[in-house]
Amino acid sequence: MDPPEEVRAQLERCGQGHLLRFWAELDTAQRGALLAALPPGLGEHCRQAAAAGARQRGQHERLDGRMEPLPPELLGSARRSGPAALQRWEAEGLHQISQNKVAVLLLAGGQGTRLGVSYPKGMYNVGLPSGKNLYQIQAERIRKVEQLAGKRHHCKCVIPWYIMTSEFTLGPTEEFFVQHNYFNLDRCNVVMFEQRMLPAVTFDGKAILEEKGKISMAPDGNGGLYRALMDNKILDDMKQRGIQYVHVYCVDNILVKMADPVFIGFCISKGADCGAKVVEKAYPTEPVGVVCCVDGVYQVVEYSEISPETAQQQRPEGGLVFSAGNICNHFFTVEFLEIVAQKWESQLKHHVAIKKVPYIDKEGNLVKPLKPNGIKLEKFVFDVFQFSKNFVAFEVLREEEFSPLKNADTADKNTPTTARQALLAQHYRWALKAGARFVDENGCRIPEKPSLSGTEDPPAVCEISPLVSYFGEGLEVYMKNKEFPSPFVLDENKVEMLENS
Ligand code: UTP
Repeated sequence: MDPPEEVRAQLERCGQGHLLRFWAELDTAQRGALLAALPPGLGEHCRQAAAAGARQRGQHERLDGRMEPLPPELLGSARRSGPAALQRWEAEGLHQISQNKVAVLLLAGGQGTRLGVSYPKGMYNVGLPSGKNLYQIQAERIRKVEQLAGKRHHCKCVIPWYIMTSEFTLGPTEEFFVQHNYFNLDRCNVVMFEQRMLPAVTFDGKAILEEKGKISMAPDGNGGLYRALMDNKILDDMKQRGIQYVHVYCVDNILVKMADPVFIGFCISKGADCGAKVVEKAYPTEPVGVVCCVDGVYQVVEYSEISPETAQQQRPEGGLVFSAGNICNHFFTVEFLEIVAQKWESQLKHHVAIKKVPYIDKEGNLVKPLKPNGIKLEKFVFDVFQFSKNFVAFEVLREEEFSPLKNADTADKNTPTTARQALLAQHYRWALKAGARFVDENGCRIPEKPSLSGTEDPPAVCEISPLVSYFGEGLEVYMKNKEFPSPFVLDENKVEMLENS
């Protein structure tokens, strides 16, 4: 059987006739699947991708002359603000949470290619003593901050958890949550939805076949969020629940403060519709985007868009001029998300990712290329700052709030090891602050090291369950002037034992 004549002609016209090269070898089901999967606007997408790829492989546009740092009045800081301001923001955040007005939204549609596991990144276990995976840590932080808000305001409250997945991650993520009984969250408050996919394209504008009857597709970037919100009627769900504020974050930051009351309270108290958490850039050549102002509009400028000279510029009082490193941690009002999704989504630019995309060659063999051969177009979640009427940024301490899991342990940073170290270093600091002491297997005191960086092993291993403490609070009662062995896991069971001892 031949493919419908008009389909063949249409594909030929837009330079994609090769997609039917193996038609004769496909069975009926495969033929049906291939035709059903042909995306609308395929030719145009391939033309755009090839053109964008060619631009990208040429010169990067430098934005130096047009950039300005964020004005200080828009940049809050966890480090520079006094305890009274921090407490005020936290109180505001907890108040809004207690009113059921806050949701968290996880971006979990990525393929995690650098980490190199075949399952969604959130399922990853970085080797903590408790064996917890990223999803469990996040779920427990949600439960704890709900408790904190509820306790302060004498009520029971809920923070719904929206999880954006993709074709790759939806099935396994759902299954994982079911297997783990939704980590003891009420499953009606965990809402998973799927983002769209786009074809991967060769440098000369041809859609790539990953099987003889299947086009290679990739998720449309974390900025696919805005379209996915509409496709899946997520904003309606939020409005039905009375949600007004959303904390959006990436799956891979092991230190993420879920629904961070301080950040949320800061943004609300400034009347912001859109906010970004940032960390100070570690060094001028660190490959992170910086939040700044370009031609009067707020945006994230990628490292490749700034010259080394600009990246190195220093402020008179010390520190980099462009230092606000973006950590993909955002505050949005639901109203803002609605305006973006309805009005601006189509204007978000496509970024080019040049990747190694496995393909079927002309002879029908599967080839795993050693060099990048394909273009994937992605939208970015942060490209919406430009539409904000009242944008703010909030700087937090890297060692307290940011340690992303990007690479396998063969790399030297952002690995399972560095993520584990960052979390254990933080918990060790919390324990010391609460007055704990640690002893080795012979009962000898382990010398303390209070000024521990996030990238070294603490002298004693102490993991604190998020169900016991959200951000280091409330530990004195269990730990003050007490001795603990190393390794030690302070979880709900231990807490009960300590309470009864
Ligand atoms: P990254 O850009 O780090 O991509 O995503 P990744 O897919 O996790 O990893 P690599 O690049 O393939 O190694 C940052 C965040 O955005 C989400 C990811 O799941 C992660 O939380 N993301 C990325 C999406 O939700 N959708 C996408 O299409 C891409």
